[in-house]
Amino acid sequence: MSTYIFILGKDRNLSLAELHARYPNGKFDGDGDFEILEIDQKIDQSEFNHLGGVIKVGELVAIVNRNNLSNELTQQLIAHHSGSKLNYGISVYGWSEKNLRSLLLDMKRNLKKEGVSSRFINQQFKNVSTAQYKGLKGKGIELLVAVHGDDFLIAKVIAVQDIDSYSERDFEKPFRDMRVGMLPPKLAQIMINLAGDSKTIWDPFCGGGVLVMEGLLMGRNMLGSDINPETFEGAKKNVDWLGKDADLFLHDATQPLKGKKFDAIVCEGYLGPPQTRLQSPDRLKPLLQELDELYVGFFNALVEINFKGSIVIALPFFRCIGNQELDLKSTIEKIEKMGFVLNPKILKYARHDQVVGRAIYRFQYR
Ligand SMILES: C[S@@+](CC[C@H](N)C(=O)[O-])C[C@H]1O[C@@H](n2cnc3c(N)ncnc32)[C@H](O)[C@@H]1O
Repeated sequence: MSTYIFILGKDRNLSLAELHARYPNGKFDGDGDFEILEIDQKIDQSEFNHLGGVIKVGELVAIVNRNNLSNELTQQLIAHHSGSKLNYGISVYGWSEKNLRSLLLDMKRNLKKEGVSSRFINQQFKNVSTAQYKGLKGKGIELLVAVHGDDFLIAKVIAVQDIDSYSERDFEKPFRDMRVGMLPPKLAQIMINLAGDSKTIWDPFCGGGVLVMEGLLMGRNMLGSDINPETFEGAKKNVDWLGKDADLFLHDATQPLKGKKFDAIVCEGYLGPPQTRLQSPDRLKPLLQELDELYVGFFNALVEINFKGSIVIALPFFRCIGNQELDLKSTIEKIEKMGFVLNPKILKYARHDQVVGRAIYRFQYR
């Protein structure tokens, strides 16, 4: 059994939902910006690369009280030290970063007393960034201090978010269509994890194929379809660029899909035309009507093919004039009436300046 401390991303609810879905047998506890997971499974960088909602993870090495903190940190650093100069970083969570200055200066003094020449990489006595950790990896060590009640948990960082790989997948793929909202790869990973450990996933609104690509990288078999031949060709190019294979085809999602096998559906549906300005709820009515027809049609087609697996779908919500928010509430009610059971925890994702956000719904046929 090992205990890990995950540092959560800025959308805390999404990060937590993802961790709980990916590790259903884990024991969880947490506080603010971190989550503790006890599990009989090894978590390393390649496992961590399949999580979209977390920033770094450390393996627990000690639990101490405040009085023993400096001493224990010193001992941990010495124990992990090899080579001549000890390069290290310390980051604190659940505790003000203001505490870092005296902690780091304490460590420096303690290490000197022990005859260890050292250098800390924290800049301006702030937490270590993921980019800084990359420079340290293999040459030094980062320790996390997470304060949980009266306990000071010390963990050794074992993996961090691979930001370069995300931006390569996001910005360097051959087909990018700015007219349709492109799903950030991290959100695609979170959605795939929310669907549990399904082996074959269908994205019926695949657009340029972000979900299909992320699913392939996570070792799933992927089916992707779209009604639009141009985006469909784009998805094919993107999957080729990745050097992987998926079953991609043209299909109208409101029609029953026959002759294909899959055990989960994960998708970002059509969000409507791009919107840059806040609208009044009245002006959005025709769009809501159009989306209602599309999604009622889609779920009806799933009933027709007797689909019983899990469905994770991102649908739009609209920020309107007068601080109001409009979502597809009445459409969701219709879907529930068809027999799809909705997980009551709806997860929302939107940048602060976005007019159209994504609400992630999780359904299971009863
Ligand atoms: C928001 S985009 C999906 C973007 C995709 N997740 C990505 O990151 O590239 C929605 C897609 O739904 C497709 N679409 C709209 N109506 C459809 C329908 N009836 N059947 C299948 N696809 C449809 C559009 O062509 C569009 O590509």
